[in-house]
Amino acid sequence: MFDISIYNENCISGARKHIKNSSVDLIITDPPYGIDANSFEKHYNRNGSNVNDGYVEIPAEEYVDFSQSWISEAERILRPGGSIYIVSGYTNLFHVLSALSRTSLRLVNHIVWKYNFGVYTTRKYVSSHYHILYLTKPGGKVTFNTYCRYGADEHDAQGGSLNYRDREDVWIINKEYKPNQKKNRNELPTELLVKMMQYSSNEGDLVCDMFLGGFSTAIVAIGLNRRITGFEISQKIYSMGIERLKDIKPGFLLDETRVPQPNTHIKRGKPWTEDEIRRVMERYSELRAEGRNKRQSIDTISMEFSRGYFSITNILKSYQKEKAQGGFLSEN
Ligand SMILES: C[S@@+](CC[C@H](N)C(=O)[O-])C[C@H]1O[C@@H](n2cnc3c(N)ncnc32)[C@H](O)[C@@H]1O
Repeated sequence: MFDISIYNENCISGARKHIKNSSVDLIITDPPYGIDANSFEKHYNRNGSNVNDGYVEIPAEEYVDFSQSWISEAERILRPGGSIYIVSGYTNLFHVLSALSRTSLRLVNHIVWKYNFGVYTTRKYVSSHYHILYLTKPGGKVTFNTYCRYGADEHDAQGGSLNYRDREDVWIINKEYKPNQKKNRNELPTELLVKMMQYSSNEGDLVCDMFLGGFSTAIVAIGLNRRITGFEISQKIYSMGIERLKDIKPGFLLDETRVPQPNTHIKRGKPWTEDEIRRVMERYSELRAEGRNKRQSIDTISMEFSRGYFSITNILKSYQKEKAQGGFLSEN
C-alpha cells in the first residue's frame, strides 16, 4: 500500500481542485503561526542556520481570512465522523478557535503538548508547550481506538493505569534532537504523529496534511500504512520533502509500535472485597471533588480498577443504601 497524492500548491485552492467532499478520514496539520521568521526563531528559541529556508509565513493582517479559508476547506473534505488535529502556538490561537467556531466541527479535546528545549527567558515563565485542538465532524462514526497503545489491564509499578495516563490531555513528548542537520521550522516529532494516527485512524485510511513542511506527517502516514494527501506551497521545501520520501518504506513504523496487552478484564465477574469497595468509594469522592461528573468518575474508576461500568454503578448504589442504613460500609 503506497498511495500518495502530494501537491506543491496552496492548500486552499489545491484542496478545491484535488480533494472531493467528505473523502478524508483524518487531518493532522500545523499551519504557519503568523509571526515573522526572525521573531519565530527568537520566540521558539531556534537556531535559524539549521532551519530550511523557503518557509512561507502568513502576514499577521491576513491571518483571520487565511484561517477561515483553510479551515472551511478542511471541514468540506473531512468525512462525517472524521477527525482533525490542529497544532498551534498561542499568538494566533484565538483566530484559529474563532474560525473553527464558524464550522460544524466539534471541539473534543484541547490538548497541551509539552516539549523539551523551551524558550529560555529570565523575566517571565518559560514557554514549553503548543496547543493541539482535536475536533470531529458530526454525522458519522468517529474512529477512536481506545486500546491501540495500552490495554485496559496494563498498570505501572504503583498500580496506575497506563491506558488512562496515555489518554490524558497533556502530552509530554520531546522534539527530535538533530544536531547539525537541516530541518523544517517546527518539524513535528514522529512520536506525536504516531500517537494521533494510532488513536484516530486505521490502516488504509486517508490522512491529509494541509501544510506539509518537512513532510513529517506524510512519512509517519506511510510508515503506518495509511494513505496520504497534502500540500506545501513552497517549491524549495516541497522538493526537499519529496527527496525525503524516496527512502521511506510503507509500513516501516509498524514493527516499532508498541503492542498493547489484550484486555482480559480479569476482575470482571469476580466478587468485590470490602477493601476494594472502600478504595473505590474514596476514589469516587476524590474525583467528584475535583469537578468530574458521575459518568466521568465511573469511567475513570473502571479503567483504574479493571471493573465494568455497571458493576461500579451497582456498588455505588448499594454503598449509598448501606450508608443510609448505617451498615458495615458506613463512615461512622
Ligand atoms: C509550521 S510548518 C509545517 C511543519 C510540519 N508540520 C513539519 O512537521 O515539518 C507550515 C508549512 O506550511 C507552508 N505553507 C504556508 N502557507 C501555505 C499554504 N497556503 N498552503 C500550503 N502550505 C503552506 C509553509 O511553507 C510551511 O512549510
